[in-house]
Amino acid sequence: MALSCPLNRYLLLMAQEHLEFRLPEIKSLLSLFGGQFTTSQETYGKSPFWILSIPSEDIARNLMKRTVCAKSIFELWGHGRSPEELYRSLKNYPVEKMIPYLHSDSTYKIKIHTFNKTLTQEEKVKRIDALEFLPFEGKVNLKKPQHVFSILEDYGLNPNCIPENPHNIYFGRWIADGQRELIESYSVKKRHFIGNTSMDAGLSFIMANHGKVKENDIVFDPFVGTGGLLIASAHFGAYVYGTDIDYNTVHGVGKASRKNQKWRGPDENIRANLRQYGLEKYYLDVLVSDASKPCWRKGTYFDAVITDPPYGIREATRRTGSQKEIPKGIDKCPESHVPVSLSYHLSDMFFDLLNFAAETLVLGGRLVYWLPVYTPEYTEEMVPWHPCLQLISNCEQKLSSHTSRRLITMEKVKTFEDRDQYSHLLSDQILPYQGHNSFREKYFSGVTKRIAKEEKSSQE
Ligand SMILES: C[S@@+](CC[C@H](N)C(=O)[O-])C[C@H]1O[C@@H](n2cnc3c(N)ncnc32)[C@H](O)[C@@H]1O
Repeated sequence: MALSCPLNRYLLLMAQEHLEFRLPEIKSLLSLFGGQFTTSQETYGKSPFWILSIPSEDIARNLMKRTVCAKSIFELWGHGRSPEELYRSLKNYPVEKMIPYLHSDSTYKIKIHTFNKTLTQEEKVKRIDALEFLPFEGKVNLKKPQHVFSILEDYGLNPNCIPENPHNIYFGRWIADGQRELIESYSVKKRHFIGNTSMDAGLSFIMANHGKVKENDIVFDPFVGTGGLLIASAHFGAYVYGTDIDYNTVHGVGKASRKNQKWRGPDENIRANLRQYGLEKYYLDVLVSDASKPCWRKGTYFDAVITDPPYGIREATRRTGSQKEIPKGIDKCPESHVPVSLSYHLSDMFFDLLNFAAETLVLGGRLVYWLPVYTPEYTEEMVPWHPCLQLISNCEQKLSSHTSRRLITMEKVKTFEDRDQYSHLLSDQILPYQGHNSFREKYFSGVTKRIAKEEKSSQE
């Protein structure tokens, strides 16, 4: 019989941003590092405090080297709904687990973290003094302590109704902070080469985490744009590759996206972006190519396909044409002239993307992409599916009152066979996808209506 590892309890302090993206991020990272989420933990919803049961501190540390959704992790020594309950729980925590951090040669500091309430200095000191019963034997060192302990108090989520006493109180030993600082250090504002649709740094890291990107992986973005998603993957040690239909973007030429600059400078390109962050060695290449006509030989090349396809709002959804596809009524072009640019329906684009991922991902590899939706008509059946890809998560980010985009993560669970290419067409799920085709019209009609409404109400 296999011996199961005893689980230790940790407290995760989550950031209160992109709430829906947090659980899939933590789950993906835990599965990458050998931890697991148990079902009772699914219920954390909007709270910033999550209790994790995982086998080792190493897993906790690895998790924090990657997460941008969590701020810090603590080894949980006690938890209660009142101070008395917390103290009881602390008295039950095994002393032998405390001693290594409290002995006389050690230095320590106790911090207080409150959510949805600010405490006075006096209140804070009172809380620290109340922990006298713990066997602290080391010296207090506020500047450079060896060990940091935290009391964390949770006053709920409603800023308009702050209770007198906290709903929950936790005490733990701080282990590590997450990677929130990446959001600032990789900010698009300070980036060398950007475009109108460059992906926000925080979301790029979340996407790479949902994609379980790891060192030495090969990550591909078929709609690479300025390569924002490649940067996040390269930061985690993956080799990156991309394609885009737009020659100017791939070659870093043409009009600049910055307000005060007319043309792109000589070194404004994806490679230079990676160099800016010391990641150039992870650059494989980028090339001009139409995602509707992939240029790859059959094979499984990629550990992850992470992408942000065009929605037709700030950039066109288009693909190259062919003689066969020239619409009726248009004079046939000479044999040699093919690059008629055709509109690329969103539903076709997602079919192509799923087929491409199913064909080129290694087994267990992940596809992570954004699906734009018109919220009044959205249903789960609209999410494109493929027999080789299992849906892992589907998280909403609102764009406006009536539109949003959903971050879809899928995992390849079956080897691709030729017949899988069309199986989605045989299913009755084909119809819901067609709704995506009119996303652009709906987006603009909604925007127009909203502007008209806002203008009307401002005149009243
Ligand atoms: C939303 S942007 C991607 C932005 C990118 N993530 C970044 O950080 O800059 C979508 C990109 O898809 C490209 N695109 C549009 N149609 C395409 C096609 N058929 N094949 C490949 N790329 C295409 C556009 O040129 C655009 O650069």
